[in-house]
Amino acid sequence: MLTFLLALPFLVKIVLLILLVLGFFKARLVLTIGECRSPNKLTEKTVIITGSNSGIGKETAVDLAKRGARVILACRDLKRADDARGKVYDS
Ligand SMILES: NC(=O)c1ccc[n+]([C@@H]2O[C@H](COP(=O)([O-])OP(=O)(O)OC[C@H]3O[C@@H](n4cnc5c(N)ncnc54)[C@H](OP(=O)(O)O)[C@@H]3O)[C@@H](O)[C@H]2O)c1
Repeated sequence: MLTFLLALPFLVKIVLLILLVLGFFKARLVLTIGECRSPNKLTEKTVIITGSNSGIGKETAVDLAKRGARVILACRDLKRADDARGKVYDS
């Protein structure tokens, strides 16, 4: 494999290298997309999140609660809201 790569013309090597670098950044983008990395503390803040017993709403609730916000889960199903509340405040 290495000898095959070394035998390639210089221009092809450059193109392969560029594709490799672009592929790395694309993979990084796909793997980290949607991830909030803000370290900002939210103590003394209150947030109300609708549909927060699942999906994006719940993930948002977990992150904001971890950062100190008082999170109000606004959900239509009390049982599911209660289950989510446990997970949000346990994390
Ligand atoms: N997931 C993604 O990658 C993505 C990307 C872009 C946009 N979005 C949009 O973001 C929103 C949330 O996505 P999600 O993936 O977090 O969805 P999800 O997991 O299905 O969560 C939906 C939440 O909304 C609630 N809900 C659904 N219909 C409702 C209604 N008629 N009245 C009140 N509450 C209702 C659900 O409550 P119950 O549990 O009681 O049903 C649940 O809490 C959707 O509009 C989706 O199209 C999602």
